[in-house]
Amino acid sequence: MKSIYLDHSATTPVDKRVADVVRDCMLDNFGNPSSIHSFGREARDVKENARKIIADMINSSPEEIYFTSGGTEADNLALLGYVRKYDDRGKHIIVSSIEHPAVLRTAMELDEELGFNVTYVEPDEFGTIHPGAIAEAITDGTILISIMHVNNEVGTINDVVAIGKIAREKGIAFHTDAVQSFGKIPIDVEAMNIDMLSLSSHKIYGPKGVGAIYIRKGIELQTRVFGGKQESGVRSGTENLPGIVGMGLAAQISGEIIDQEARDIGNLRDELSRLILDQLSNVKLNGHPTNRLPGNLSLTFYGVEGEALLLTLDLQGIGVSTGSACSSGKSDASHVLTAIGLSDEDANSTIRFTLGRSNNLEDIQQTAEIIINTVNRLRSMSGD
Ligand SMILES: Cc1ncc(COP(=O)(O)O)c(C=O)c1O
Repeated sequence: MKSIYLDHSATTPVDKRVADVVRDCMLDNFGNPSSIHSFGREARDVKENARKIIADMINSSPEEIYFTSGGTEADNLALLGYVRKYDDRGKHIIVSSIEHPAVLRTAMELDEELGFNVTYVEPDEFGTIHPGAIAEAITDGTILISIMHVNNEVGTINDVVAIGKIAREKGIAFHTDAVQSFGKIPIDVEAMNIDMLSLSSHKIYGPKGVGAIYIRKGIELQTRVFGGKQESGVRSGTENLPGIVGMGLAAQISGEIIDQEARDIGNLRDELSRLILDQLSNVKLNGHPTNRLPGNLSLTFYGVEGEALLLTLDLQGIGVSTGSACSSGKSDASHVLTAIGLSDEDANSTIRFTLGRSNNLEDIQQTAEIIINTVNRLRSMSGD
């Protein structure tokens, strides 16, 4: 039985070329980037090379990129670091109600424990956060807006250009979580008026446990990790050099093929969608019909228990997720799916397929056939 991995938004298989440079770095480039001798200088050079690759991809300068342990730390740092530094200017922040928990739970902590006021802007039925709704939520005390570029569950792409413009005109900082979009669709922090941006390596075929935050020049974050002042004091601690080097190469590879890959994966996703929707009734597509991340397909199979479907597909070698990976294993309905109007029951009948570089047309045809048979079987068992 061939395994088919369709959960690329949870994580991606590491690119072989990336794994090779990570290994080489561990063995050959073990110096501490803070050391003055040649071992340290070599380590520093490869680190700075990775920083430059990432900066070029988002049209920032290398001095505005700081490496972190991943997207979660970048999100926490952006929100907590910013409000701690600038709370004398106001105590109100705006997020959407469908952010990843790395943003949402940080906002809730600010709201419920740290004396800030948070507005949670609701999406429309497609998962879009409207710039007009952001404008309406702004108060005199608003200091920060954090709206994700692409939603991790339904793949809807937000108009960060318009949201960034509104924030800029009002003198409010704008952070966007670009963990799902980086390396898959273009990002330009200048054109998009982005002040802070979160990135992660393991969504782009790089190693886990490494990411980065872009912080626009002039913004200072107050961090809570004190130490050797690595990463200009934004993130103390000896750097994860193999991870950083791996992230750099993963970003470079993604950047080189970004347009072609988006087209190829988008076509495969459309084919999977077509095959399933043509042959199964009572299936709903979630997220925006067109303005969606190329690899994302979120489908509600009415009357089918999502977890039963996931486990049955797993037995047949197909890896998918219910809602997001972070919420799998819990029976709570996804906060994203319920926010776009699904009932708890329908949210729990939803499967997220996320396609990536490891998939081909044969995988997609095989997956569609297995899904159609499995859904028909599960429905007939439940009498639907
Ligand atoms: C939108 C979004 N933000 C943040 C994260 C967290 O990133 P990391 O796993 O690197 O901590 C994820 C991971 O699923 C995500 O999808």
